[in-house]
Amino acid sequence: MEKAKYIWMDGALVEWDKAQTHILTHTLHYGNGVFEGTRAYMTEDGLAIFKLREHTQRLLNSAKITRIKPNFSLQELENAQVELLRANDFKSNVYLRPLVYLGYGIMGLYHIKAPVQTAIAAWEWGSYLGEEGLEKGIRVKISSFTRNPVSSTMGKAKAAANYLNSQMAKYEAVEAGYEEALLLDDEGFIAEGSGECFFIVRNGVLISPPNDTSLESITQGMVLELAREAGIPIERRRVTRDEVYIADEAFFTGTAAEVTPIRDVDNYVIGDGKRGPLTEQLQKAYFDVVYGRNPKYKHLLTYI
Ligand SMILES: Cc1ncc(COP(=O)(O)O)c(C=O)c1O
Repeated sequence: MEKAKYIWMDGALVEWDKAQTHILTHTLHYGNGVFEGTRAYMTEDGLAIFKLREHTQRLLNSAKITRIKPNFSLQELENAQVELLRANDFKSNVYLRPLVYLGYGIMGLYHIKAPVQTAIAAWEWGSYLGEEGLEKGIRVKISSFTRNPVSSTMGKAKAAANYLNSQMAKYEAVEAGYEEALLLDDEGFIAEGSGECFFIVRNGVLISPPNDTSLESITQGMVLELAREAGIPIERRRVTRDEVYIADEAFFTGTAAEVTPIRDVDNYVIGDGKRGPLTEQLQKAYFDVVYGRNPKYKHLLTYI
């Protein structure tokens, strides 16, 4: 990965290589830590964070769900992210990774006395699933892993522990020659990708499963808003794997994945096996928003 100059740790800018933690850091052992993935784009008017408020609020919501009392407020965390990007003087698009975690001091599962710490890293990062993937589409495998069920996991929290499921699914998919995994819920309906929400298009209708067993995706919300604005009919309903196989188009959304077309699922060619027209329209509209080219949505950008 690209190193930057500084990482923000509990109020201080620390040199990248010195941003370290004790080996008995609680989160390292039990996985209760919450994080965000946020992007800043190099717009014509300079670097700007997309939906800083929504991402920071989700970080605090994740902490609430997992019974962590954050040591900084919403406003302080927003200011810290801006301060970090200013100090690092980035030249291209950036990914931000705020992390609220339980530090060193106690062991054992009952974490109420574990010290809460916050770190924010940021580095220059291009497209998550590849430039070619954004244009031509990626190959996806339906995972043998069931998405974390709501009866045992709290998927509205972007919590480190929830990502073992994602990590195993991703590993399996890549080992099998695909680029991304698509997970089903415990009833066999489409849940989400390992780090993305999922859409199909059938007969001109844009369909995305409800967020019952997925993160409440900020990118999915933005894409749905853009589709609504463009007059594209939308359905939020459960989707089965056979419906995916006969879809006209399919794509993933996520802060990292942005809007990534899917060209095949389990070796079934989706539509024409390339980025579909509606996917392309929504992808373009999304990039116009995040790069500040759509005046209606400029207020979603925090300029550095
Ligand atoms: C499991 C999972 N689902 C969906 C998403 C997409 O969410 P967002 O669009 O808010 O980045 C992510 C990425 O954050 C994720 O990790």
